[in-house]
Amino acid sequence: MAIERTFSIIKPDATRRNLTGAINAVIEKAGLRIVAQKRVLWTRAQAEKFYEEHKARPFYGELCSFMTSGPVVLQVLEGEGAIAKYRDVMGATDPAEAKEGTIRKLFAVSKGENSTHGSDSAAAADREIGLNFRLDEIVG
Ligand code: RTP
Ligand code: MG
Repeated sequence: MAIERTFSIIKPDATRRNLTGAINAVIEKAGLRIVAQKRVLWTRAQAEKFYEEHKARPFYGELCSFMTSGPVVLQVLEGEGAIAKYRDVMGATDPAEAKEGTIRKLFAVSKGENSTHGSDSAAAADREIGLNFRLDEIVG
């Protein structure tokens, strides 16, 4: 499998509970490298643009409110098959369905406040990295 890059967010429920380092430890233990990282407060417009594919879903407004309720840590992760691997490391969207040892099983509060985001395809990873990082901010 090829070396890939994926986009990750440590969400406000996790930054609020001081879990950035604990989540990064799970990421690194899984063999993914954090090749870019910054902590920011998203504007409503940034959250709405990032999640625009979910615009018609009932949870869209709540999701955009949550994602602007506190700091987020934006990351680029690199490694063998990083996109699928990080989805495995995060676990199911709903922590009640997530496997033991996954980030969401370990840390998520609920299906909405589920501690991390990870790109779900190569096209999504390209789009999400491009929206949030300049090329020179990523050092592999
Ligand atoms: P993500 O995009 O954050 O990596 O999560 P995902 O692929 O597992 O889930 P997705 O279906 O893309 O949903 C995006 C985010 O919206 C929130 N959500 N809330 N209350 C609900 O029923 C509900 N469903 C989804 C979650 O924060 C989810 O991660
Ligand atoms: Mg998703």
